[in-house]
Amino acid sequence: MPSEHARAFAPGRVNLIGEHTDYNGGLALPFAISQGVIVDATAVDDLVIRAHALDLDEQFVFTVTERGSEHGWRAFVIGMVAELEALGVDVGGAKLGIGGDLPRGAGLSSSAALEVSLCLALLALAGIDADEPGRLELARVCARVENDWVGAQTGLLDQLASLFGGAGAALLIDFAALETIEPVPLQLSGWKLVVLDSGERHEHAGGGYNERRAECTKAAEQLGVRTLSEADPAAVERLPEPLRRRARHVLSENARVREAVAALSDDDLPRLGRLLDASHASLRDDFQISTPAVEATVARLRDAGAAGARIMGGGFGGCVLALFAPDVEAPPNAIEVRPGPGAHLLDT
Ligand code: GLA
Repeated sequence: MPSEHARAFAPGRVNLIGEHTDYNGGLALPFAISQGVIVDATAVDDLVIRAHALDLDEQFVFTVTERGSEHGWRAFVIGMVAELEALGVDVGGAKLGIGGDLPRGAGLSSSAALEVSLCLALLALAGIDADEPGRLELARVCARVENDWVGAQTGLLDQLASLFGGAGAALLIDFAALETIEPVPLQLSGWKLVVLDSGERHEHAGGGYNERRAECTKAAEQLGVRTLSEADPAAVERLPEPLRRRARHVLSENARVREAVAALSDDDLPRLGRLLDASHASLRDDFQISTPAVEATVARLRDAGAAGARIMGGGFGGCVLALFAPDVEAPPNAIEVRPGPGAHLLDT
């Protein structure tokens, strides 16, 4: 039954380890965080969408039959309406208030949280339960909005983390076989995971992200494999630069995800810290997505006594993730992050 009113929450995510592996058929270990985006949706009688981005205090008004190209947050809204219609959902007119407590462009996946919260809110107004298409299908719908409407060739990591996250656990995702999303309990025994903003904003649609993705596709083509995760390490060493470095990162990062799962199950947090450091070195030197502002942020965290720190998300700015032992103080503006529930409807 269609609803008059719906509110949907979708969390941002932290990726513990496994960066730039999603679109390379590899492994990642993200979790949903408690901060996220909330879309408050009210059905209206005409076929007009009136969206209001509360943090920017900007409005966007269009009819649901419109398919024009847009920029910034508007591209997400018009793209989501179009992709839901393409899925067979009868999207009606609505007033949408978009808010929440997730900073934009900080590497905490505000884009996926916006897509997922819009998706759940519009589905609820149309009277469709998220489990009907299934959350995996919804993750693909959200990724299409980002790829085809926003222009960022991102993978499925962020959408899956937001849709499948759960309190107390990270998700081991195998992108070679998407059915396998396995919760991994995140028992930190008093240790803390924190994020510290480098202050540098990134935008995947305009940044080096698409270039890295294209390099990975080219490396896989030259190696004759479907995805870089299937590549033979010896063949990778014979690739020309920079393709060799890009492929090397993917293989070594996949191995680190497996080791991180083992470290967590052995309660070996110092080992987890060393893996974060190794991931950072690989993202800086082989994948080459760090910046001076990110390096300064990593150095601040290490100087404060972090057991490990690394650039997180797409790169070229954003947040740094760090692990601190129980008796060590994180810098004052670092935010502690814990696994929270995945996307859901809120009471209206
Ligand atoms: C961004 C993208 C994801 C993923 C990460 C890097 O967050 O949206 O798909 O590729 O970067 O791991």
